[in-house]
Amino acid sequence: MTTPSMNTVLEAVEMRVLPPDPAVMAAIGLSHTLNTAVADLIDNSLDATANRIVVRFMLRKGRPSSLLIIDNGFGMSEQAIDAAMTVGRRHHYDGSSLGHYGMGLKAASFSQAESLTVIARDQFDKTHHTAGRRWSRQGVQNFECEVLESSQCAEQLDLALESVDSKFGTMVRWDNVRTFPSGTNEDVVNEYLSRTVDSLRFHLGFVMHRLIKKRNMQISIDVYDADTGTAGAPRIVDAVDPFAYRRSGDGRYPMRFSVEVGPAAITATAHLWPARSQALEFRLDEDPVQRQGFYFYRNDRLLEAGGWKNIFTNGRRTQLARVELDIDTLPEVFDMNMEKSSVQPRPEFGHAVERAVSESGVSFSNYLNESEAVFRTGNVRSRKREAVVRPGSGFSPAVKRAIEEEYEDSAPRPPVQVRWKSISTGEFFEVDRAEQTLWLNERYRKILSTGRRSGMNDAPLLKASLYLLMEEVFRGSAFGSKAKDNVEIWQAILTDAAEDELARSSS
Ligand SMILES: Nc1ncnc2c1ncn2[C@@H]1O[C@H](COP(=O)(O)OP(=O)(O)OP(=O)(O)O)[C@@H](O)[C@H]1O
Ligand SMILES: [Mg+2]
Repeated sequence: MTTPSMNTVLEAVEMRVLPPDPAVMAAIGLSHTLNTAVADLIDNSLDATANRIVVRFMLRKGRPSSLLIIDNGFGMSEQAIDAAMTVGRRHHYDGSSLGHYGMGLKAASFSQAESLTVIARDQFDKTHHTAGRRWSRQGVQNFECEVLESSQCAEQLDLALESVDSKFGTMVRWDNVRTFPSGTNEDVVNEYLSRTVDSLRFHLGFVMHRLIKKRNMQISIDVYDADTGTAGAPRIVDAVDPFAYRRSGDGRYPMRFSVEVGPAAITATAHLWPARSQALEFRLDEDPVQRQGFYFYRNDRLLEAGGWKNIFTNGRRTQLARVELDIDTLPEVFDMNMEKSSVQPRPEFGHAVERAVSESGVSFSNYLNESEAVFRTGNVRSRKREAVVRPGSGFSPAVKRAIEEEYEDSAPRPPVQVRWKSISTGEFFEVDRAEQTLWLNERYRKILSTGRRSGMNDAPLLKASLYLLMEEVFRGSAFGSKAKDNVEIWQAILTDAAEDELARSSS
């Protein structure tokens, strides 16, 4: 007789097969958002070697009704499209594939829409046959898929493929998208579309940033009115590279660390952003404190952006530290979720990071200390700055923001405006202290505001320079002889310089 123990290995006496209830289909892909779901379909387009992809919000009777993803990839045959629609059908993935689970198309689509249609034409089919399938969320639970009439599919596909300039490719269409607004109120629809397109554009540009650059591919998003058959202007998705600082926060970075997990190793490239960066690539879509940490890529697709995976905490002072990791170089240590929006490293990874040392002998915790140091030095001012008059109308938002960041305190005077008017004396500017306005001579406007966007806030560089030169004149109540003399000097020199600009532009 053995004594009962919790350590006893239990014996199996029989084997039973327990097939899943089809209702399980209703649960897949639930943690997708519209952004991650669309990204999952774009992964498929990229695996099909597409380099032009259009994401199209389709309006019917003034209301967003469907979403289309159109690509110029190699398309699908009748056989391939059946495999594509099959839940969990995995095929042989080559080393650079973004696909992995055989689930993405179905899971992403039903997480957002009630109905999924896929229409494709195989690049290599000389007969130009078009294959179409449709699945409703209901149908997928019985695993029943509709085969669509080929010539009708061909018509629709041809219309769609115009946007990617191709004769073959694939169109995925979602109908009855659950998150689309249900009303037709124009303001609500417009507000929804502008917010959604902006957010999607950012997300795709972010997670695909390496691929957009490397494969020279173009993703664009447009809004298509199905009643009139017209598409609005496409918004191109620009790459958003979270490591695109102009100058590193510390000359010794980026620095490569070898993270040794058992007998294998993965390279972690540690970066330090400069302090107080206002670049979109640093600020991204939220608090940069939350965007410090690991950036996991798989085959150049960004899966997860930021966070230290419980190895360190997201401290405010370590917010400049971002580490790039290509998990495909060591796939056995990392699991990614089905939605391809997060990565789970094995526990050994944490220990390996703590032990990691760079080629130059810097440890990972040194790196974090150094990131704190860069943050601290970048955020202390060597001395207290003066209180200045705020920039008012006429300055572009970017200039205003830059000035506000540098000068924290405001002088007790109304903001200074900068505006154009014709000045009969021919002088370059006029200081109007009663109106707190710096007038610039309209005569020079055309040559000095050269950017494409004109209007009130034109010539940002010129106006910022003048602000730095003249702000003090608008600050005090007194206008002393020294200040008057300065204004005379500036007037003489700037007027001659402006005349020189005019002469050069006409010669
Ligand atoms: N746009 C497309 N062009 C060509 N083939 C496609 C396209 N979309 C899907 N497919 C085919 O359908 C298959 C199934 O796609 P699905 O996204 O469901 O799974 P997967 O990409 O293989 O893996 P994962 O679940 O990781 O995304 C793909 O492997 C591919 O062969
Ligand atoms: Mg896929």
